[in-house]
Amino acid sequence: MYLSDKFNHIVSSGTVAFTTLIQQLRAQGRDIIDLAVGEPDFGVDGEVMDATHQALEAGHTRYGPVAGLPALKDALAADFEGYGPRNVLITNGAKQGLFEIFQAICDPGQEVIIPNPCWVSFQHQVRLAGGVPVMVDTVQHQLDTDAMAQAVTGRTVAILINSPNNPTGAVYDRNSIEEIIAICRQNDLWLISDEAYAAFVYGDSVFVSPFAFPEIRPQLIMARSFSKTYAMTGFRIGYVVAPNEMIARLTTIQSHLTGNICSFAQHGALSATRVPAERLTQRRRQFEKRRDLAVEASRGLFDLIAPEGAFYLFPAISRHQKRFGDDQALARYLLEKADVAVVPGTFFGAPGHIRISFATSTGRLSKGFQRMKDIL
Ligand SMILES: Cc1ncc(COP(=O)(O)O)c(C=O)c1O
Repeated sequence: MYLSDKFNHIVSSGTVAFTTLIQQLRAQGRDIIDLAVGEPDFGVDGEVMDATHQALEAGHTRYGPVAGLPALKDALAADFEGYGPRNVLITNGAKQGLFEIFQAICDPGQEVIIPNPCWVSFQHQVRLAGGVPVMVDTVQHQLDTDAMAQAVTGRTVAILINSPNNPTGAVYDRNSIEEIIAICRQNDLWLISDEAYAAFVYGDSVFVSPFAFPEIRPQLIMARSFSKTYAMTGFRIGYVVAPNEMIARLTTIQSHLTGNICSFAQHGALSATRVPAERLTQRRRQFEKRRDLAVEASRGLFDLIAPEGAFYLFPAISRHQKRFGDDQALARYLLEKADVAVVPGTFFGAPGHIRISFATSTGRLSKGFQRMKDIL
């Protein structure tokens, strides 16, 4: 029986497999400190829960418009000057939005340039669309724009950026964004901007979306999410913002993929758009304290470039490689012997690193670092 060749070139998400292992150890009664986690630990806002319950009771349990709840699209479009609901598509998380984007822009053999290290799914999604991911290494976690320009070929269709970045926590400044925009404009490329962590930026760093530069808007496709900003990972609500012709294409794809996104979850998301900004700022401050604690605690253990955003540290493990082996061996050792879960950098295309999430209480974070210190 035949199986598609595409499937031979993808592997399932390493982080998901790791989560399963953590769950198994917990089921055995082990107190695992999960520093592998990719979601915030705060609860869903009360008003979001209420709005979701009310939507269920009001009977919002049926098929709805493929592109999303009109009121939700209106609310989201308001953040993008000159854009309206036709520039917004609600998706099953940013993940599905990105999947659809690659389906829309890739023919077999066409290339998408992706800075490395990067989130686990980008390259597999490009491959599933028939495209070829072209990985370009970052330098000190920042974009190497010269190398990215050199990577452009006649087959390149897009450049993807993700700032704040998973796994490195890097935030790209205006200059880097402007340079990427110039490359995209010179070569008629799509610029895909994954902005899932836009709400998590610390210290003096600022989140700069390419949308701030009007000249790129006809080529710009942004993927955003409620998952991290509002701890709504299980609601599966993300959205794509793009020129309306692109949104129309993505909507066609989505019409054959899922149809509408969960109707009552979209009502919850609508109420999330009204959560007071002050509450988001408080959370960001709380995460900043955790970032500071994690950076400080890891100083003696690893070589680290301090993250400016997202909620991850991505240190090099070179000091420990002789004793423990590669990043996968070290992560396994930490999990099995210290009951601390971190993610091997190999999953993100950067062997020799581990990803440590600080999306957990300062108490658990300190305990996790203490355990690592004891064992390392
Ligand atoms: C960089 C990045 N983009 C997109 C996503 C997908 O988020 P969601 O599908 O939950 O919106 C994630 C999730 O971890 C991520 O880290």
